[in-house]
Amino acid sequence: VPSVLFDNHGRPLEYLRLAVTDRCNLRCFYCMPEEGIKYLPKQELLTYEEMERLVAIMAGLGVRKVRLTGGEPFVRRDLVPFMDRLSQIPGITELTMTTNGVLTAPHVPELARMGLKAVNLSLDTLDRARFASITRRDELPRVLDTLYALLAAGIRVKINAVVMDGQNTQDLLPLAELTRDLPVDVRFIEEMPFNGHSHEATPATLPWNHNRIREHLALNLGELTPVPTRSGDTASHYTVAGHQGRLGIIAAYSRTFCGTCNRIRLTAEGGLKTCLYDQGVLDIRALLRGGSSDEQIADALKSAFRNRAANGFEAESQRPVHQLSFESMSTIGG
Ligand code: GTP
Ligand code: 5AD
Ligand code: SF4
Repeated sequence: VPSVLFDNHGRPLEYLRLAVTDRCNLRCFYCMPEEGIKYLPKQELLTYEEMERLVAIMAGLGVRKVRLTGGEPFVRRDLVPFMDRLSQIPGITELTMTTNGVLTAPHVPELARMGLKAVNLSLDTLDRARFASITRRDELPRVLDTLYALLAAGIRVKINAVVMDGQNTQDLLPLAELTRDLPVDVRFIEEMPFNGHSHEATPATLPWNHNRIREHLALNLGELTPVPTRSGDTASHYTVAGHQGRLGIIAAYSRTFCGTCNRIRLTAEGGLKTCLYDQGVLDIRALLRGGSSDEQIADALKSAFRNRAANGFEAESQRPVHQLSFESMSTIGG
């Protein structure tokens, strides 16, 4: 059993967020502009073989959980066989994904067969017209098919809903109500400025921060009982009497969880990020394609892990040359 690698702030690194593509079949306005973003040419994406090799190297360093992200993972061809191979890499004990659910439902039986235990599903409203206006695509029915298919297959679902002032605050309660009758967790996320409009000003205060979201839910649903958080969790979880599922609030903008951050990211083009807010600290694709050995790659990873910022947002915003670049979440991998 590989030992866990700790970063320079004593945080264990055990969770890799792997972006398998920067492409998406939705156009969520908090993530990208209507015309989309400039996608990477195919040869700049890591191949599945390259990703498998990297995950095996990282597993050797103590990574045990891998979450596939994007873009939308299912936009990439032959994803399921790739997942199957990843799930068999020794040391990877938890394979999971974040999906928008548009193309997911038909794959649910295969996912269940492979032993996938949990999926995070992005869904910001249960209202078809508002779904179409937020995502700029009329795909709510297919997303709901995915939700029900996952639950029927016994796969745990966490719904991710980004809370947007003036857009979907009326949807918070209907979404939260899902937890009453369904064994599903619903997590509300503070909106972050990764919307693909570079250098757009960040509001100094967020109209719907985690406190306001919690108060709004409690006022309407009754008492929220906090569930102890596990180290590395982004969400604070709550139970509501009589509800099967839990509610969660992710202070993604307030960043209340940096102190226990246990995750690293790999962008679709093979850039290592040790924080959502850094600009990419290591070009792993160059190492992979430049003939580096597994050992050399492992050493490069280790030194990047030992140079992590305590709070990547603060570190990045203090840099004189680089402005915080507010890219699209679809490129960063969420
Ligand atoms: P679990 O593994 O189920 O806990 O999921 P997760 O919260 O790690 O991942 P998910 O892909 O569901 O992301 C939920 C939200 O949290 C998204 O809006 C992410 O962008 C945000 N998020 C994830 N990691 C970080 C992080 O390191 N920093 C910040 N600020 N936000 C993050
Ligand atoms: N702010 C917060 N969350 C976001 N996501 C995408 N863009 C943003 C943003 N600007 C979420 C999606 C998805 C997760 C990976 O990131 O809802 O569930
Ligand atoms: Fe696609 Fe997710 Fe971005 Fe929406 S938030 S456009 S589903 S990558």
